[in-house]
Amino acid sequence: MRIAVLLSFATLALTSLTAASQATAGAQEQPRAPQEVAQTPPMGWNSWNYFAERVSDKDIRAAADQLVATGMKDAGYVYVNIDDTWEGERDASGVLHANAKFPDMKALADYVHSKGLKIGIYSSPGPKTCGGYEGSLGHEAQDAQLYAQWGIDYLKYDLCSYTPDVMEKQAPGDKAAQMRLMTSAYARMDKALKATGRPIVYSLCQYGWDAVWEWAPSVGGNLWRTTGDVNPTWDRIYAIVSQQAGLEKFAGPGHWNDPDMLEVGNGKLTLAENRAHFTLWAMLAAPLLAGNDLPNMKPEIKAILTNREVIAVDQDRLGKQGTRAYSEGEVDVWTRPLAGGAMAIAVVNAGDGRYSTHPFHLNLRKLGLNGPQTGKDLWTGKAITLNDGQPLELASHDVLLVRINAPR
Ligand code: GLA
Repeated sequence: MRIAVLLSFATLALTSLTAASQATAGAQEQPRAPQEVAQTPPMGWNSWNYFAERVSDKDIRAAADQLVATGMKDAGYVYVNIDDTWEGERDASGVLHANAKFPDMKALADYVHSKGLKIGIYSSPGPKTCGGYEGSLGHEAQDAQLYAQWGIDYLKYDLCSYTPDVMEKQAPGDKAAQMRLMTSAYARMDKALKATGRPIVYSLCQYGWDAVWEWAPSVGGNLWRTTGDVNPTWDRIYAIVSQQAGLEKFAGPGHWNDPDMLEVGNGKLTLAENRAHFTLWAMLAAPLLAGNDLPNMKPEIKAILTNREVIAVDQDRLGKQGTRAYSEGEVDVWTRPLAGGAMAIAVVNAGDGRYSTHPFHLNLRKLGLNGPQTGKDLWTGKAITLNDGQPLELASHDVLLVRINAPR
């Protein structure tokens, strides 16, 4: 397994070298896209978690309007991303057209841009997307050029049918060869995107398979999904969070772990669960792509999504993802180093109940801290002092998030 991984790295390195020398040779005619996209985790909204396959042009325009009207844009949410089910048919020259739900993509992109926002789109390296719509297999360069013509700023590239239709067919039973096919498919689209000269955020979606965090940056990935799909239940959100521990060393400016899009405001999540979900995504330096029904957003959900100080933790310029410092039974303690020597601490009660006779006692020494620490509780907005052994009362699935500017 290890040897297989090393071998595929060697192949990848060779592929990138070849790609790099080809790019240098063709530098005159093929402009390279600037690399400065996603210097902090991308923020915006994506259609999938709320609309799924029902999304239309009208919903995208309404989402753009609402990002502006609710102040979310000012808080940093800039990408308006169309997920699966926009794709129509290819014409005789292979040019892909959007389906009837999206009558004019260029006009839609212009509309989103006119609001000072950016627009994202979705495809698959396979023949079909996960929803069974047209994928980019064999049309990568053509599709990338089309996105650039429309003015697209972000692509989510979802493995889907590439597994059964290409990997398993071309290399039956040979997992290492299948992985090489997968990485080369992602490298191919990266090259196609860069050849357009347009800065396009490149989001890999292959559910974390084959330790994607180890190779995604080498195929130009600005972010990569680390797990299967999120859904709006505490159990799923908490399972995803637990699978992020240990991945912190792979994230940094321009390349981020993606624990999937936000479910804040969706399903039956309680207010505490929404708060904990958002807090943990901020601790993880995760992309913040809201996925809720913006025109009908409740004020308390808006308050969570626009909490500037929590967003500042997510967007911290140091770009260091948080670590699960320790767990004690049902309580987890996460820490994240922030620019200027500051630190964020999140304490999460993942349990279903806790009685005041047995509060959780925070162990500051396990966080490398000595004595009382003064900071700010980012959900109440109040000053707070944390002492070693501090008893903390946390409701079920709730969180304490503290920023300490001068930790000792
Ligand atoms: C996969 C992805 C989801 C979404 C759907 C669309 O399941 O993981 O995020 O894009 O496909 O079909």
